[in-house]
Amino acid sequence: MKEYLPQELSIPDVQRLLQGGVGPRPIALVSTISKEGINNLAPFSFYNVFGANPPVIAFSPSRRGRDGSFKDTYLNLFETKECVVQAVTFNMVEQVSLASTEFENGIDEFVKSGLTPIQSDLIKPKRVKESPFQMECKLLDMMSYGDGGASANIAICEVIKFHIDEDIFVNGLIHPNKIDLVARMSGDFYCRAFGENIFEVEKPLAKKGIGYDQIPDFIKQSNIYSANNLGKLGNIEIIPSENAVSEYIQKVKRSTVIESDYLINSFEHYLTQKDFTKMLQVVLANSSLTTTNKKQLLEKTAKAALEANQTEIAWKIALFAGRDNG
Ligand SMILES: Cc1cc2nc3c(=O)[nH]c(=O)nc-3n(C[C@H](O)[C@H](O)[C@H](O)COP(=O)(O)O)c2cc1C
Repeated sequence: MKEYLPQELSIPDVQRLLQGGVGPRPIALVSTISKEGINNLAPFSFYNVFGANPPVIAFSPSRRGRDGSFKDTYLNLFETKECVVQAVTFNMVEQVSLASTEFENGIDEFVKSGLTPIQSDLIKPKRVKESPFQMECKLLDMMSYGDGGASANIAICEVIKFHIDEDIFVNGLIHPNKIDLVARMSGDFYCRAFGENIFEVEKPLAKKGIGYDQIPDFIKQSNIYSANNLGKLGNIEIIPSENAVSEYIQKVKRSTVIESDYLINSFEHYLTQKDFTKMLQVVLANSSLTTTNKKQLLEKTAKAALEANQTEIAWKIALFAGRDNG
């Protein structure tokens, strides 16, 4: 491991390390207005949510690295205590980047970025029409740490009104594929939270899983399961009994519809289809497998079941794989 003490690095190097390791960071597109009534728009990825009761978010318009001066967003917030914070989606990211240009004080970034200003209901700063998720906010506190370039000014804000496009909801939940958010990483890298990048991890809060330590050693020592697979196995509340394992295996055996071609090729075929029941049927119907080979194929089957979120079935297959099936 490389080791660093921040005080021995240049400020840009510290910033680069933080931006590389703390991410992907959500992006707040922040709209403010000056006392003179000039609109301002800028993105901030030092941003997150900190509570829901009341709804509190915070972001950091830090001092300019170049000369330690304050950014317009900071100055406007300081004076007016109001802002609109909106989510940044994939189809607006280039315009948002344009809004981050250091235009002279007094330039309206709505005009420069081509994003559309619309009236807010409770505060003066404008909302960005293109964003499907907009929050009207009041400044609660501004916390500053340091006074040179790149020092933090954390604007802590309360959300006083949400405006959310109804099309991004699926069954009452904002769906990642509908909102299509982007996030900031190191350098010029961004990422898009969409499609194959989205996956689910069942919350352990609702139940009490057995934990990693209770997983039998023969499962932990297998070279088929990944660390994530084992973590998922540790989230089951009760390990299936030997009887439950036998009953499940007998049921699958009875339903076997594999014909003459139950050779190893068909296992691979079903593996690519992630059809773990067919994979199991192939293994059970194939009497010419060696014990080691059979164990490995069963473990691959358990892994496929696990990745299909069938944790109980995965456990049964994993336990069956550990039996002396020779
Ligand atoms: C995606 C993105 C994220 C950014 N995040 C931050 C940030 O968290 N803090 C910051 O001070 N500047 C950040 N910047 C740079 C500001 O947007 C930039 O300095 C902008 O000109 C500030 O505008 P203002 O002077 O109108 O407030 C970011 C830029 C981009 C493109």
